[in-house]
Amino acid sequence: MNFNRCAPVVLLGTGMSVPTRVVTNRDLEEIVDTSDQWIVERTGIRERRIASMGELTSDLAAAAAMQALDAASVSPEELDMIIVGTNSPDRLFPGVGPIVQARIGASKAGACDLQAGCTGCVYALMLASAGIRAGFWKKVLVIGAEVLSRIVDWKDRNTCVLFGDGAGAALLGVGEGEDAVLAAEVHADGSLDDYIELPGGLVAHPATVETVEQGLHFVKMKGNEVFKYVNKVIPPFVRDLCSQAGLDLREIDAWVFHQANHRIIEGVLRRLEIPLDKAVVNLQKYGNTSAASVFLALHEGMAEGKISKGDKVMLVSFGAGMTYGAMIIRI
Ligand code: COA
Repeated sequence: MNFNRCAPVVLLGTGMSVPTRVVTNRDLEEIVDTSDQWIVERTGIRERRIASMGELTSDLAAAAAMQALDAASVSPEELDMIIVGTNSPDRLFPGVGPIVQARIGASKAGACDLQAGCTGCVYALMLASAGIRAGFWKKVLVIGAEVLSRIVDWKDRNTCVLFGDGAGAALLGVGEGEDAVLAAEVHADGSLDDYIELPGGLVAHPATVETVEQGLHFVKMKGNEVFKYVNKVIPPFVRDLCSQAGLDLREIDAWVFHQANHRIIEGVLRRLEIPLDKAVVNLQKYGNTSAASVFLALHEGMAEGKISKGDKVMLVSFGAGMTYGAMIIRI
């Protein structure tokens, strides 16, 4: 290993992949006691993509990965590392990372999964950047990928209307000149472990007929607690991160939030006195895709011209743990 300490990090390319099947709010009215009006008013979500049977998290992850590599004209053999943020891996082990590594032919890359709730995207980007800066890796593919539809209780209107399936990817590499990562920080508060959890099927509650009957193998969420917590912690956190980077909040060109709820994005930006049109929002099309959502919004924001070369972008996420984190990156 040739250590090249403090190598500057750059974003080389992005990609995304979502299942073709669209499930609208109206479709959900047929399954649970809900309404299109409730879902739109409370969350902003209008539809989501749902994987077909047999379509796996690794399938979406590999497709997003290839798009990011193509965008950067980088071949899979050039990759040193693949980190996949996911809460819905194909199997608990082996991880999605090694499956993607083999699928795309990244013959020289290490590969692993990272599980940090929806904040897995920021944790993974931060680890990738740190590894590049330290000289461990030159090119790292960071992926967020989920097929949450398989671990959501389709009888629970509190959760099933919120989530969707998808994968996004960002390729980071060694650049020249200034480092693109201007600031990054992650937090956790494990005392709030029951806010969002999937309790059953593992060590705490090994799978039995009873755990299955009780639905412990499905996502449980105290949505309102999460909502209040996020609205409390995120505004001062991102304000502080901007200060660390020597930036005024108004110097951030685009805000890419975890796409959980339009009211959260609006509320946080209102508190920060930032106009809503600086946010990239695509949750109306995909719902909450957990660790994938920031990548989907970043990719679409760039593809649709809402984010341009040279822009300073704030990536913000929060999720099970509770965890939260943010990164300011120059595109
Ligand atoms: N359709 C219709 N009614 C629903 C519903 C649905 N899909 N889901 C919940 N409700 C009902 C509740 O049962 C409750 O009824 P009640 O007052 O008779 O008890 C009512 O709507 C209000 O529920 P509440 O949970 O207080 O709503 P809310 O305004 O907090 O919105 C969320 C619920 C989940 C949309 C919101 O809390 C949220 O987005 N939280 C954050 C979740 C999040 O970000 N999670 C991701 C982290 S990864």
